[in-house]
Formats: sequence, structure tokens, C-alpha cells
Amino acid sequence: MNASRSAIGARLMGSASPAGRYRCVRDATLAWCGTLTPEDTVVQSMPDASPVKWHLAHTTWFFEQFLLSRQSGYVPLHPQWQYLFNSYYQSVGPMHARAQRGLLSRPTLAEVLDYRARIDERMEGLLERDDGDTESAALLELGLNHEQQHQELLLTDIKHLFSLNPLQPVFREHAAAPRASESVPLEFLRRCEGIAQIGHPGEGFAFDNESPQHRVLLHAHSVANRLITNAEFRAFIEEGGYRNPMLWLSEGWDMVQREGWGRPLYWGEDLQSEFTLAGLQAMAANAPVCHVSFYEADAFARWAGARLPLESEWESVAQDRPVEGNFADGGVLHPLPARPGHGGPLQLFGDVWEWTSSPYVAYPGFRPAPGAIGEYNGKFMCGQWVLRGGSCATPQGHVRASYRNFFHPSARWQFSGIRLGKDA
Ligand SMILES: [Fe+2]
Repeated sequence: MNASRSAIGARLMGSASPAGRYRCVRDATLAWCGTLTPEDTVVQSMPDASPVKWHLAHTTWFFEQFLLSRQSGYVPLHPQWQYLFNSYYQSVGPMHARAQRGLLSRPTLAEVLDYRARIDERMEGLLERDDGDTESAALLELGLNHEQQHQELLLTDIKHLFSLNPLQPVFREHAAAPRASESVPLEFLRRCEGIAQIGHPGEGFAFDNESPQHRVLLHAHSVANRLITNAEFRAFIEEGGYRNPMLWLSEGWDMVQREGWGRPLYWGEDLQSEFTLAGLQAMAANAPVCHVSFYEADAFARWAGARLPLESEWESVAQDRPVEGNFADGGVLHPLPARPGHGGPLQLFGDVWEWTSSPYVAYPGFRPAPGAIGEYNGKFMCGQWVLRGGSCATPQGHVRASYRNFFHPSARWQFSGIRLGKDA
């Protein structure tokens, strides 16, 4: 399946039967692997990133562990693989070390693909029987959304791996995309003080960390009409942004010193080129800057006399907007310039995940799901920061206004960028 077929798949998602939606999502994962060699799928470039082969097996394990294994008398296909492809579910059992996933030359890619096919057969049998079990239906939705999250990770992880290869491999040529000829001026949209309602309203799928919906007090503030561009971030670099400790949070400055950061991940030394999923490319000045950490986003905001928006501010802006934008299904796989002539705020969805100034913590009244599934989100609510809006590597239809992504503040390998906010 190619990217455009996967876009058709995403449109089908809303209406198809559970078995149809299962097939759509599973096929889309394999479609992203179409240009990869078996060798590409084995290597792990850093502890945060996983090999493609591991993603293929782990997403399959998820369905086997959380859906198929609920059937009485179910016998796992490969009992030893439970250990290999459990990611972090302590209540399910022990697991292989995350940083050593790239050492698994066995099982082979062919064996993992066979595992996928055989679990798919079992899953399709289960879905066709449709016993009306609402818990199974909820777990299916979770499994499909989980697999979509791994589709995005597969793209960001292979990008990181390829970026370290002197041959600078091309994962996929960018699909033809409209290029903006002129830049959209940066403006701040004023928002009045008031009480907003944020969190998942209750219709359709959402992860547990988006609930419960609750009220928040928003002070008067403003939110930028578009994302920060490469040209704007280049100005920060050229004015010595990475050399001025006064702009940085202490932990961020430590990272700059320790890691020798002087530009976003994947930028060339010339500050004019960047490594992309289509290989090394000239940088578009008015495209959004991406692959910056929370620390870099925060330092840029301070340099610009602004700050990052709170997640509540972001959501209150986004919740009335259609979820449209540059997502993975479009095949561009890179953030695009804002299009002039459209009312703001622009680029809320797709392009890049937007760092917020909000720590990833529980909403008032949050309760993790009972059982092992409760380990999905809640136990990570410490030391991470919320990002909003999805990226050019996010599957279409996967995100919504209440969606909370989260990463450690030093993470740069996701498509993460910057929208500014200000106190009014
Ligand atoms: Fe996972």
C-alpha cells in the first residue's frame, strides 16, 4: 500500500466495520515499510528509538496480549516473544531492555511478518464473531490507536537512523506539495480572561489522559497565528541564542553544554540544509522549524519576548477548529509553510507537535484504566512536557483538540516545533 492508499484508509476509518478498520490500520503500518530493506528494520539508533522490526512485532503483541489472550484457553503463538515485545507493562510480566532492542537479530523480519499475518487471522476471526463485548470493543480501539502511534514512531525512528548513515538514505521522496511563495506575518491573537472547558468531551475514542473534561481559568493572553519558521529560528542562532545562558532554563543550558547543541537536530552546519525523510534537502525559510527540544523552544520564546502557550490555552483555541492539516497520509512527511490568505490561527493540526509550557500531569479527577492498560499513560506523569496538535508524521484522523502527547524536555527526534504565546 502506498501513502495515498493509506489516506483512503484513514477516510474509511470512521465508517468501516471493526474488521475493516483493523485491516486498514494494520495495512498502513506495512505500507510505510515498503521502501525499507530487512537490514533497515533491525538496527536501533539510540535508546529512545526502536527498530522497525520491533515496532512491527510489538504492535502485534499488543493485540495478542490485550485482546486475543482474553479468550479462555488462548495459547500464545510464541510464548518467548512475550518477553521480547512487551514494552513497559510491568503487570503483564518482565521485558527485554529497551536500549537493547537493536540486538535482536532473531526473530528474523520474515518471522515477525509471519507473526503479524497469523495474529491478523486470529484477530479477524475474533472480530467477525463479534460477541458484543464492550470491553473488547474498547480494547480494539485502543489497539488501533496504539498502532497509529507506532506508525509515527516508525517514521521518526527511521529518520533518526538514516540521519546517522553517511549515505544519507532517502526513506521516501516528498509527495508534490504546494509551496507558499510568501510568508505569513507573525501576529498574536488576543484571548480574553475566562473559564474554559478542556479535556475530552466524551464522544469517540480518547486516551485516558485526556479525561475528565474540566474547567480551567485562562488569564488574558495571546497565541501566535502560526508556527515559528526556520528563518526565525536561524535569526535566534545568528544572534547567539545557543551561547547566551540567560535565555535558557538551567537543565537546558546543561544540555547545550554537554551535547554541544548549536542548531536543531538534522540541520546542516550551513544552517541552510536539513536531513529529511527525503534525504538531505535545502531548507525552506518559511517552513516551520522542527526537531527542537522543549529547552530550545523555551529559550527561543524567551529570546522573542514571549513564552510557550499553556496546554489549556492551546486547546481552547483549537477546540472549535477542524482537524485539518499536513498529516502523514499526505505523503509530504515534512512540515510545510503556512499558507497566506487564510485566517489564523494556522497550522494548529499537523506539521509539527507544538511544545507547551505545561508539565504532563493528571487532570483533576483522572483515574487510570483498571488493570495492565492503566500503565498506558498514567505512570509517565512525571518529568515530561505536553505537546499538542499532531505532526506531518501523524496518521490522519489520529489526533483531536484534546490529544495530549508527551516527551522528556530534551527529546528532539520527534517532529516537534514552536508556537509562541504571550501574557496580555
Ligand atoms: Fe507501544
